Amino acid sequence: MKKIVKRIGWFIKEERFSYAMGIAALGLIAILNLIPPKIIGNVIDSIVENTLTSEALLLYLLVFLAIGVVVYFLRYAWRMFIFGTSYRLERKMRMSLFKHFTRMSPSFYQKYRTGDLMAHATNDIRAIQRVAGGGVLQFADSILTGVSVLIAMFLSVDWKLTLLALIPMPFMIIGAQKLSKKLHEAFFDAQASFSDMNNRVHESISGIKVMKAFGQEKSDINRFGEVTDDVYNRYYRVSLIDVLFEPLFTIVIMSSYVIILWFGIRLIQQGDITTGRLSTFISYVHQLMWPMMAIGFLMNTIERGNASFDRIEKIMNEEESVLNHNKNEYQIPHGDLCFNLEHFKYPNDEHPVLKDIQFTLKQGQTLGIVGKTGSGKSTLIKLLLREYDGYQGYIELDGVNIKEYNLHALRDAVGYVPQDNFLFSMSIEDNIRFGNPETTHEEVIEAAKIADVHDDIVDFEFGYETLMGEKGISLSGGQRQRVSIARALVLKPNILILDDSLSAVDAKTEEKILSGLKYSRQNETTIISAHRLSALKHADLILVLDEGQIIERGTHASLMEAQGWYAKIFKQQEYEREEHQDGSIDN
Ligand SMILES: Nc1ncnc2c1ncn2[C@@H]1O[C@H](COP(=O)(O)OP(=O)(O)O)[C@@H](O)[C@H]1O
Ligand SMILES: [Mg+2]
Repeated sequence: MKKIVKRIGWFIKEERFSYAMGIAALGLIAILNLIPPKIIGNVIDSIVENTLTSEALLLYLLVFLAIGVVVYFLRYAWRMFIFGTSYRLERKMRMSLFKHFTRMSPSFYQKYRTGDLMAHATNDIRAIQRVAGGGVLQFADSILTGVSVLIAMFLSVDWKLTLLALIPMPFMIIGAQKLSKKLHEAFFDAQASFSDMNNRVHESISGIKVMKAFGQEKSDINRFGEVTDDVYNRYYRVSLIDVLFEPLFTIVIMSSYVIILWFGIRLIQQGDITTGRLSTFISYVHQLMWPMMAIGFLMNTIERGNASFDRIEKIMNEEESVLNHNKNEYQIPHGDLCFNLEHFKYPNDEHPVLKDIQFTLKQGQTLGIVGKTGSGKSTLIKLLLREYDGYQGYIELDGVNIKEYNLHALRDAVGYVPQDNFLFSMSIEDNIRFGNPETTHEEVIEAAKIADVHDDIVDFEFGYETLMGEKGISLSGGQRQRVSIARALVLKPNILILDDSLSAVDAKTEEKILSGLKYSRQNETTIISAHRLSALKHADLILVLDEGQIIERGTHASLMEAQGWYAKIFKQQEYEREEHQDGSIDN
């Protein structure tokens, strides 16, 4: 309880107005609900004493009706205030989690499968939302209704009968808690086996040719029979537990009634209370059932909320503990880069992957990195992103060692399009605004235009709403790369890094994107690694890497003049390109 209050307390504090209104509505309902049993008791007494006038009866009925109407609106109000507000927590948590996802390095995505990540995040965030919604309701209502009904019981008869009537209540609390826990577990179990079955169907259908070829249909049908039986059994168990709530309720309330009647009738016979009062008392006992159940439910809501919070916290703390010392203020670097690396080895590796890498880059300049596969281009970029810290030398941004920056601030400054891009199973638009959920539609379009993927997107049937991934369409490699670039662009990063991000895009499109970038990013730093040398013609500095060392450096013009590796490969690529475009070489 303490733990969860600490964890979502900030949110309840932030939304204290909504919660106060919701709880006020709950309190009013609790009090109004006390009136009808009182009226019924009075009517019974008047009937017994033969004093019921039709005016009085009409008045009673009107009050009944009025209470019904008012309670209806109050119920609406607390739902809006408490449940409505709790969804805002869900939205907030989702946003910070997504933001966190964008800061994670590729190794994070190797460790966690994207699908699992999304599914868990969704379920866990939902469980926490339930604490802020259902949990708050269960807590407030069990206290408000519980206390007001107890006071009313005490006033309508006496404290002795009230205490006696309470004897079976602990069974209600414990029973509700145990059952709802079991129900939840059984339900998750059933859901898991259901998705297992779906996977099986999927497998069988995609493997149907193979199966036929091997004459395995029969055993597959048998196997599937077992799976469906399993699903059936598990859902059957869910309903078995579900139906137990009703008997629990009945047993507890009947035991209470037996006790009340046994002692209550004696009180009537002794003339201590009237029949009407006893009837009012019995109605109150009935009203006490829900708050008792709510206490039981509340324990589970909190337990699940805490478990989910633990999981999300684990993801949120990922990496931070390794690298982020948090010793510095949150200052975002602009992009004056100075590399002075003596050498770097991957952990558990013998030979250095990078050696003697020295260069500087001013804010607003573009750096090009070229070299064969395996020459160390991606590694150089990873060091800048602080995926690895174990190197000799230093890397500075704005004259400050990158290890001194808050890791989040550093990553906030960088828009990184990795070599192996990943897209989520959501709409194209959401994929693009992934790093910043507050990006407007116009900004998404602007980024897509610079990344030259806008025209492709509007050609899809559902445009920007087109779903990607398993349930949606699959994009071509070049389209995926361009969507990934748009995703980095909406962040308006001080440093944009494209690591071989245009390999699947044709030369013409590549040129278009790069000149668009040059225009829109005149004052920001850009780092591009590429296979196609023509992509880097406009770079202010080009580094040619080979086996982790800079073998040539300069601008396109100076490198061409030097007639080294760069000039040779450039000519070769131009030649291949012309051949490709013309289809033939005549001269
Ligand atoms: N995580 C890693 N652990 C060990 N060695 C690695 C790792 N990643 C890359 N390497 C090695 O480092 C060298 C440089 O790789 P990389 O930076 O990816 O080159 P490029 O991006 O130029 O193709 C290669 O020999 C590669 O095998
Ligand atoms: Mg690479």
